[in-house]
Amino acid sequence: MSQTLSPLPALSPALADSPFLRACRREPNDVTPVWLMRQAGRYMQEYRDIRAKVSFLELCKSPELATEVTVYAQERLGVDAAILFADILLILEPIGFNLEFAKGEGPVIHNPVRESQDVDRVRAFDDKSTLGYVFDAVSSIRRALKPNIPLIGFAGAPFTLACYAIEGGGSRHYEKAKAFMYRDPGAWDVLMSRLVDATIVYLNAQAEAGAQCLQLFDSWVGTLGPDDYRQFVQPHMKRLIAGLHKGVPCIHFGTDTSTLLELQRDAGGDVIGLDWRVDFAQSWDRLGHDVAVQGNLDPVVLFAPEAEIRARARKVLDQAAGRPGHIFNLGHGILPQTPVDHVLALVDEVHSYRPAAR
Ligand code: CP3
Repeated sequence: MSQTLSPLPALSPALADSPFLRACRREPNDVTPVWLMRQAGRYMQEYRDIRAKVSFLELCKSPELATEVTVYAQERLGVDAAILFADILLILEPIGFNLEFAKGEGPVIHNPVRESQDVDRVRAFDDKSTLGYVFDAVSSIRRALKPNIPLIGFAGAPFTLACYAIEGGGSRHYEKAKAFMYRDPGAWDVLMSRLVDATIVYLNAQAEAGAQCLQLFDSWVGTLGPDDYRQFVQPHMKRLIAGLHKGVPCIHFGTDTSTLLELQRDAGGDVIGLDWRVDFAQSWDRLGHDVAVQGNLDPVVLFAPEAEIRARARKVLDQAAGRPGHIFNLGHGILPQTPVDHVLALVDEVHSYRPAAR
């Protein structure tokens, strides 16, 4: 499926020159840019106050509230980018899945794909207005953010979405999804292709509404070995990333991907996400320095004393050695019990750091 792209809003000089977008393009920066996955979330009292009044899906579906939590988190933390408040699973609704965020249970899909023929009911994402609330949130957040703060849009990568679509919720071993994949590679390819088609339209529309960068969350892809990644995932990721607006940097993120990094890089992305299980310097060497990297502090380090958080942040920064193209982040999202003060100390440490090499 080839898509005619609508034009992007012009990139202002303040945004184009922001440390975050400079790092995406591997241009030198005086200070390493930092943002944190799940920076707007339950570890913040102000977020919990809003969630006491509305459900998670209501929050996602209200552009006004999504703007409030997104912009609040960016300003409170003083981070170098904002991320759209939404969820990777929202795209599943308009293509035919009944999605619920059950209290204390996480996401539930009431009509998962289980048999090969179930793939036939996965619809095309041909009416963008069904996710109009996301695009409205993007343009409203863009208007509300300071003019030099980039906004990151995002989507789930097709493997991670397929896991949810087949399992019907979270899973430890993804046995239903992987058994489906092994049993009927043809039906798997159809499912992945439909998810890719929908995601291309979805992400391009976020960029057209005002997102300056797009992140693909392949959070669960680390459950696959390299051969399976190559066969069942990589061709789909290649087509997806090739279908995105050029000139809008793409962050390709996964966890538990130490055996997959080169394959992910070859699938595409301007920035590759690293989790904390890998050595930062070694991984960047493996990837090659012609790609930018994002990461990779263990989110659990934020539960340690402040001095330890600062020391460990410096360790990551020392490994980056001032090389252009590093975006500081955690290796995965902030956990709900994280003390806000510790997050502020981390951001301060990253911003205070000056590498010897620069
Ligand atoms: O990073 C951000 O601040 C942007 C917002 C964001 C959320 N989810 C908000 C959210 C992003 C980027 C996501 C992505 C997402 N959602 C992923 C990929 C990233 C990752 O963590 O690996 C996944 C796997 C999901 C699916 C999902 N959404 C799960 C498994 C859960 C439950 C998790 C839990 O801890 O309860 C959610 C809910 C969710 N998404 C919350 C938030 C802030 C918590 C909901 C609440 O307020 O109760």
